[in-house]
Amino acid sequence: RQNERESLYIILNFAKNFYVQQLHESDEGQAVGLSYFKERGFTGEIRKKFELGYSLDTWDAFSKVALEKGYSSQLLEKAGLLIHKEGSQTAGYDRFRGRVIFPIHNVAGKVIAFGARILKSDKSKAANQPKYLNSPETEVYHKSDVLYGIFQAKNAIRQLDHCYLVEGYTDVISLNQGGIENVVASSGTSLTVEQIRLIGRFTPNVTILYDGDIAGIKAALRGLDLVLEEGLNVSIVLFPDGDDPDSYVRKVGAEAFKAYLKNNSKDFITFKTEMLLQDAGNDPFRLAAVIGEVVNSIVKIPDAIKRQVFFHRTSEMMKVDEQMLITEGNKLLRKLH
Ligand code: CTP
Ligand code: MN
Ligand code: MN
Ligand code: MN
Ligand code: MN
Repeated sequence: RQNERESLYIILNFAKNFYVQQLHESDEGQAVGLSYFKERGFTGEIRKKFELGYSLDTWDAFSKVALEKGYSSQLLEKAGLLIHKEGSQTAGYDRFRGRVIFPIHNVAGKVIAFGARILKSDKSKAANQPKYLNSPETEVYHKSDVLYGIFQAKNAIRQLDHCYLVEGYTDVISLNQGGIENVVASSGTSLTVEQIRLIGRFTPNVTILYDGDIAGIKAALRGLDLVLEEGLNVSIVLFPDGDDPDSYVRKVGAEAFKAYLKNNSKDFITFKTEMLLQDAGNDPFRLAAVIGEVVNSIVKIPDAIKRQVFFHRTSEMMKVDEQMLITEGNKLLRKLH
């Protein structure tokens, strides 16, 4: 087991180096991959920090070289780099072809997987292929445990005692480009307890920067109770509809972006209460349901003083008696413990 993991780290690192080399040294990599990254404004320094690469648009450019080096096709398959069809006579074909490559590192800096983005130019191709293709689950890659960028961000998170959480690879990279280094991505999944605990190793303070669309907001709300239960202090910033942190920072520039974060950050309970109240309008039954849901979130907070602050705050927002909220909260708390 330990040996197999070590072998996987070695082949994944070999693949990463290969993709980085192809990006900078092959004609196709330069013409297609490098120009793509440059168009998105990623400098050489940032490409190096995140070890960005390119996979050639052929069936076996990578696996051919890896097999020649003596790596077995079984290992390549276990690493998620080679796809072998049952009963096929050939070794298989490369999983990543004709895509820009975002290596995914674990907290110690070892490459454990790849995200690979299709190039926007080829529309016919883009129509029937996913925008991002990711490594499958392997012995060293459990998607739900991983935060993209954690290795590059961890020192900054610890120093600033604060972490920004975004959805995508390119959000992490663009924010870094703008001088914001304490940022990690959940990579499009709804947040898991493992991901939250990983942030909690470095700071209790998290600000969620999700895409400004309904899906982004819903994903953020789903994550809320989990994060509260882990005792983290959560705030959220929403972006104008259609923008994500990457597009927004490029639109307004780094300084205006930082000011926007400062002026639009809202603690998560307040945010959730506002959202629910807006939805409920004047319907008393729906208002009653909102009160129940807000109390339900508040009791997830382990710290009694913080709970008290939120009972007070939300009672004013919902225009209900604070003592009633506390009584209802205490009933739920007794059930929880
Ligand atoms: N994602 C994925 N597979 C997809 C789509 C998305 O794994 N088919 C993950 C990726 O980690 C992606 C994140 O979800 O970075 C957020 O998705 P999205 O907002 O659609 O992509 P962006 O990161 O904004 O990428 P880009 O700016 O290149 O369009
Ligand atoms: Mn696991
Ligand atoms: Mn989105
Ligand atoms: Mn996005
Ligand atoms: Mn984007």
